[in-house]
Amino acid sequence: MGDKHTIRLQPVDIEFEVDEDETILDGAFRQGLMLMHGCKEGQCAACKSFVLEGEVDMDKYSTFALPDFEEEEGWTLLCKAHAVSDVDIELVNYDEEVLRSGIPTKQVVATVAELEPLTSDIWRLALDLDPADGFEYKPGQYVDITVPGTDDVRSFSMASVPSTPNRLEFMIRHYPGGKFAGGFADGTLQVGHELDVKGPFGSFTLRDRPERRLLFIGGGAGMAPIVSLLRARREAGCTRRSVFYYGARGTADLFQVDELEGLQHQLADFAFVPVLSDADPGPDWTGETGFVTDVVARLEGDLRDVDAYLCGPPPMVDAAMELLLAQGLAEDRIYFDKFTTSAETEGSSL
Ligand SMILES: Cc1cc2nc3c(=O)[nH]c(=O)nc-3n(C[C@H](O)[C@H](O)[C@H](O)COP(=O)(O)OP(=O)(O)OC[C@H]3O[C@@H](n4cnc5c(N)ncnc54)[C@H](O)[C@@H]3O)c2cc1C
Ligand code: FES
Repeated sequence: MGDKHTIRLQPVDIEFEVDEDETILDGAFRQGLMLMHGCKEGQCAACKSFVLEGEVDMDKYSTFALPDFEEEEGWTLLCKAHAVSDVDIELVNYDEEVLRSGIPTKQVVATVAELEPLTSDIWRLALDLDPADGFEYKPGQYVDITVPGTDDVRSFSMASVPSTPNRLEFMIRHYPGGKFAGGFADGTLQVGHELDVKGPFGSFTLRDRPERRLLFIGGGAGMAPIVSLLRARREAGCTRRSVFYYGARGTADLFQVDELEGLQHQLADFAFVPVLSDADPGPDWTGETGFVTDVVARLEGDLRDVDAYLCGPPPMVDAAMELLLAQGLAEDRIYFDKFTTSAETEGSSL
């Protein structure tokens, strides 16, 4: 344990204490303050903030996220900054509703309860938690799982809902050679094994705006947190008009379809629109084809009255964001989780 310092966040007027040994972002999470973030690796700039007063020490980060001239001006990345004095920070990117309603993060040990392929490259992983740990989360959030035998972590979004708090369910894309998911197919990870899990993280949670309809756009394993949000809406009897556009390559890459089609009857005014990008998805496919964003552009009209939730690979999220902004949706009505991977940091500093 290192020295303790006080962090003051402006303009929200929140004060909390951090240890010198933890990053300011980790200290905030530990105390249930869900500050805006993305990679937590100093690469994406989502946590960039301005140091008004005080001093921070930085761990290694990407100079793409924080160029040297910005660091000299006083900008910092909260996921890499350690306070070495009391620090006043100006937040530039924040959602006060989410910031104040976070759940304090916990580190727990979970047991692999189920591991099965859903498609040729997406797996379902279910983890059992010890009820004594009292792990809590909100629909749409994610956890960090430590890759067994290493200090590396990978982030995964829950597809489950908090009403079954001791069972977390994930949808995980398997990349050959991937440090974590690579272990699914070769038997390195098996039912009964234990995993270190930390969380919850993330702001991909449903904002309470009953007057606005909901537009969900997902691709690949990005279905997971959207399924969590939809399941939670079913439990709550939510009646907001909503539609979920889901992009996959071919029919063999579609999964969870029975539940999503069933939701069309269980949720008031909900439609599930799967979209296949394969040039020839086969004679049995009568649904939408092409890029999911092109189908959204064609089927949706004016988007100014929606709250949009985007999740999946970064190129899909970026393309959807561009479309929604062009269709007139305000940036602060777009919530997203990009499933960024642990690519090597280029242009790193320190
Ligand atoms: C907030 C957040 C939530 C996430 N939630 C999920 C989730 O619910 N489900 C999920 O599947 N993933 C999710 N991810 C991504 C996940 O954290 C891992 O990065 C991903 O699963 C790869 O980990 P790995 O250890 O298997 O592969 P790594 O060891 O990180 O990668 C090894 C190799 O696999 C290949 N590879 C890895 N990722 C990709 C890619 N995207 N495209 C092409 N090749 C790749 C590359 O060749 C790479 O060198 C999330 C990421 C974030 C930031
Ligand atoms: S969360 Fe800090 S740079 Fe990505």
